[in-house]
Amino acid sequence: MKIAILVGTRPEIIKMAPVIRECQKRKLDYLIIHSKQHYSEKLDGIFFSELDLPPPKYNLNVGSGGHANQTGRILIALEPILMSEKPDVLLVQGDTNTVVAGALAANKLHIKVGHVEAGLRSFDQTMPEESNRIIADHISDYRFAVTDLQVDYLKKEGIPESKIFKVGNTIVDALLSHRGRAEKTSQILSALKLQTKGYYLFTSHRAANVDDPDALKEIIQLIAKIPGQVCWPIHYRTQKVLKENKIDLPGNLTWTDPVGYSDFLNMLSNCAAVITDSGGVQEEACILGVPCVTIRDSTERPETVAVGANVLVHRNAEAMVAALNRPITPWTNPFGDGHTAERILNIVMDQSVQPVAQTQD
Ligand code: UD1
Ligand code: UDP
Repeated sequence: MKIAILVGTRPEIIKMAPVIRECQKRKLDYLIIHSKQHYSEKLDGIFFSELDLPPPKYNLNVGSGGHANQTGRILIALEPILMSEKPDVLLVQGDTNTVVAGALAANKLHIKVGHVEAGLRSFDQTMPEESNRIIADHISDYRFAVTDLQVDYLKKEGIPESKIFKVGNTIVDALLSHRGRAEKTSQILSALKLQTKGYYLFTSHRAANVDDPDALKEIIQLIAKIPGQVCWPIHYRTQKVLKENKIDLPGNLTWTDPVGYSDFLNMLSNCAAVITDSGGVQEEACILGVPCVTIRDSTERPETVAVGANVLVHRNAEAMVAALNRPITPWTNPFGDGHTAERILNIVMDQSVQPVAQTQD
């Protein structure tokens, strides 16, 4: 059996890393294809080197662009590769333009598609990620759901139970395997003069929060209201709008370019709380026991809210400050046990797999 693994952006590289390592461990016939939706060293190459990943066999070099442009170019560049490589399955992860293009290209060629992190729903149709998730789920052959919630969503959308596999989230595998190294190697706290539990970590790159300069100004005003030092590794999408609109940053903010996985995990593990609109950061905070405040109206990770790890506050400063001051009761990580990549490969390698109820436990 031949397995093709498609990645395109920072979170896809991080969350596919455990699957790639498991392919290596089992000496499987696999190849990595990179759309290069992310191409800047700090959103791309740094993760390949830090996570000890082999270089992709193919780079599609699509880079940035509008949704149709980016998605279309990935489809066009991927088709001949899939035709010549003839993999038995293409694995895609998450909800980016790379994912929807990859799933569609493979589906049209009757190559099986495995969607890792299937069934997430924010129910906010204005998010580009929401349509990507829904389309990828509906044209996949294996939906690798994280928790019972995604299994239920997928079943309600008419997907047969035999095609849904509850496996957990590979982010737990990635985080557990990298955490020790991050603690040993990262010098980021001293480099940025951050004291353990003496700062808040901040991240924002969602289109709805940063593309419109007025929305981004509201985000910046939120930072000024955070009671203490704030550290923000700023995504290039956000940096561009800040620069183009000459938006001033508040005095309590220490900012940097995006950082690698070791530095980010170290910053997240040691902060007092994280304020974010990232999907992956909501999960990681929940897994690490770090209180999270999400500056959005909706989340496709409601498990984090249900366990008390996360509060949604839109761009409302009063609600954000109240959420930062909330009493915290320890919670249990709902995203799995760190063996998700193993389960995914067991299922892909075994064509006669059992339905959902028998997979995870
Ligand atoms: C993409 C995903 C988003 C995911 C995020 C992870 C879609 C629709 N969006 O958003 O779901 O949360 O990745 O970080 O697929 N840029 C660079 N260097 C790069 C890449 C981008 O400078 O290597 C800048 C460019 O100005 C570009 C902008 O960031 O126009 C946005 O990049 P893009 O890939 O379109 O979307 P992301 O915001 O990264
Ligand atoms: N991350 C990182 N460096 C940073 C910011 C985030 O390594 O400067 C990691 C973070 O640990 C998480 C992932 O990137 O695993 C989240 O990516 P992002 O927020 O870009 O995308 P999303 O999860 O929202 O799709």
